[in-house]
Amino acid sequence: MQDVQMIISKMTLEEKASLCSGQDFWHTEEIPHLGIPQLMMSDGPHGLRKQESEADHLGLNESIAAVCFPAGCATGSSFDVELMEQLGDILGKECQAENIGMLLGPAVNIKRSPLCGRNFEYMSEDPYLTGKMAASYINGLQKNGVGASIKHFAANSQEYRRMSSSSELSERTLREIYLPAFEEAVKSSQPKTVMCSYNKINGVFASENKELMTKILREEWGFEGAVVTDWGAINDRVKGLKAGVDLEMPGTDGYNDRKIIEAVKNGTLDEQVVDQAVERILNVIFSCRNNEKNAPDFNKEADHEKAVQIESECAVLLENNGVLPLNKDEKILYIGEFAEKPRYQGGGSSHINSFKKVSALESAKQKQRSVSYIKGFSADKDEYINNELFKAVEAAKQADKVVIFAGLPDIMESEGYDRKTLAMPECQNEMIEEVLKVQPNTVIVLHNGSPVETPWAEKSGAVLEMYLGGQGVGEACDRILYGEVNPSGRLAESFPYRLEDTPSYLFYPGDGKKAIYGEEIFVGYRYYDTKKIPVRWAFGHGLSYTSFTYSNIRLSTKHLTNKEQLIVEVDISNIGDVDGKEVVQLYISDKCKTVLRPAKELKGFKKIFLKKGETKTVTFEIDERALAYYEEEIQDWYAPSGTYEILVGQASDNIILSEEFDFITTKYLPLSVDGTTTVGDLLKDVRTSVLSQELFSGIINQNSGESEEISAADKEMIEAILENVPLKSLVSLGAITNREQEQIENKLNSVLRGEEENE
Ligand code: BGC
Repeated sequence: MQDVQMIISKMTLEEKASLCSGQDFWHTEEIPHLGIPQLMMSDGPHGLRKQESEADHLGLNESIAAVCFPAGCATGSSFDVELMEQLGDILGKECQAENIGMLLGPAVNIKRSPLCGRNFEYMSEDPYLTGKMAASYINGLQKNGVGASIKHFAANSQEYRRMSSSSELSERTLREIYLPAFEEAVKSSQPKTVMCSYNKINGVFASENKELMTKILREEWGFEGAVVTDWGAINDRVKGLKAGVDLEMPGTDGYNDRKIIEAVKNGTLDEQVVDQAVERILNVIFSCRNNEKNAPDFNKEADHEKAVQIESECAVLLENNGVLPLNKDEKILYIGEFAEKPRYQGGGSSHINSFKKVSALESAKQKQRSVSYIKGFSADKDEYINNELFKAVEAAKQADKVVIFAGLPDIMESEGYDRKTLAMPECQNEMIEEVLKVQPNTVIVLHNGSPVETPWAEKSGAVLEMYLGGQGVGEACDRILYGEVNPSGRLAESFPYRLEDTPSYLFYPGDGKKAIYGEEIFVGYRYYDTKKIPVRWAFGHGLSYTSFTYSNIRLSTKHLTNKEQLIVEVDISNIGDVDGKEVVQLYISDKCKTVLRPAKELKGFKKIFLKKGETKTVTFEIDERALAYYEEEIQDWYAPSGTYEILVGQASDNIILSEEFDFITTKYLPLSVDGTTTVGDLLKDVRTSVLSQELFSGIINQNSGESEEISAADKEMIEAILENVPLKSLVSLGAITNREQEQIENKLNSVLRGEEENE
């Protein structure tokens, strides 16, 4: 390993500054006389977009022919951390072969609204799932010595004015929803770089945000790598360096380097800050470069097959009224241009120049399926082809079953702009409705990167969500349709009925200057479940060709302390006729109701394979953090003592087993009693409750009026009123004197300081 400190000591200020930005669009600066090589980067996240010349970050110019794996919307739905590690590993090997030292991914922004044009690249509306999947991908990639760049840090959940708008959100919302995926990835996989986003967070550009780039990322989470800007995200380079943003990409032909030099020379920037950035960048360059030499070639055909297999694990069977799987003896009619021209990736920086693609139609031909085909409608625009609606309906009557290959055309969904509607192209909706009238055994296959409205869902024979499934999507689709693969994907996002039902509907995307995250922590199922708003398909939903039963939930203890871990075990059986994979999901519901919380939150998931007739035990480990919310008062996670419920099931709306337990913590929130402290708070807090009951029981009795005996109802009413009364108001109500108020405060404060017992 190179002696980085030694190298830095030999560098001129000019050389240091030059290393803090790219030499060009994709490379870091090379300084040969100091033995500093270039590091090449490439998008990411689901394939290599290596550009030899005419670089751009919008996916407009050609890149090398590569393998396009399923996009994040699909891989997120696999709920399979091992699969993510495999994907990272395959990409790492491809990077080695192509001399790429760093792959720009994974992309882990939370799907706040289904309208975000770039949702197809992101994995989920849930931070826990996203974090686990991202960490595995990074582990797989980095074990090949290739660096990851987890992006886009942070709160970058829209494309509308993504380069200038300020995401306005509370600290609790940031911590509970928008940061945990990054936190999990940093803590369990140490990505070599974190990419700071374009947007502002509460008024401060991410690229100048010291709170995020230094305090949270490095000091709290222990990030050891370098922060790289999103392409062109720098606003003020010197402020950026001070905030902890090390590498500016792409280079600015030395313009910003000169600003760094000037600032050091005029004393407004400490050279040590530059040295620190240089040290981090050098560590990344050396650790990622060492593995490029003599890298093996990769076999594109073999990786294509892996892309098919991965997609087969991702697709989600949303509905099935016994129409799937198809039988090879049935006469099947395929409708829709997506059957021969599947949409399998999104537009923008992640766009791959796929070396090959096989459509579902081609796949059917190769396998000599009994399939006929009518184009019907275009895959590129909202338009029938040759007026084929009538022809398609007539042919549908004659077929045993129909498969309509539907989806969103490229123009409706891309990096760089948001969608305006959740509606599918009108002609597709009409085709589906008309065909369903004559042929109920119709399967709808979807190719889209984010939820769409599906008004025909209940009438259809089956709905299969392929998402943007990579270049293998056609073959994966064929294998699932014909039952060669048993579908096992589960929705990593809720499918609402209508845009108006979505949590951020009133706020998204903001006025261009500010994006108000007004729904706060209630994103996705956290909102739908809590508000009891019905959705078309819930988070976690997905069907299989077999069925599973859940039984025998066991908790290691019913009284958990904050020093222990809770072990939850459940038995899962495959009681159907075929082998299959199940995604067992564990949610936690906080019954203490200390603060406003979602009805439940995902805190564990396991994907398991079960042969038909087989039973397996699934085990989850639950720690204090899984019970906690982010308490702004102490700027930390906090799980109050009280009752919590473990919920285990197949989807957020399909909980099969549940069990409550008590949690007892020795950690307390700060409490100091003064005139504004309410009686309710004192009675609730375990540190003051016993003494307060004693102190206030007299008041309750006094207030019960003339009659000797207080009725239970009166008592309850008085207690309810007193709950909200601060100590000082007890004086104005005539219940206590000023002197007594002072005595009560002193007594309770000495209990809190531990000077007196609360007994
Ligand atoms: C995107 C990044 C991408 C970069 C380089 C930016 O516009 O937001 O995700 O990695 O370009 O192409």
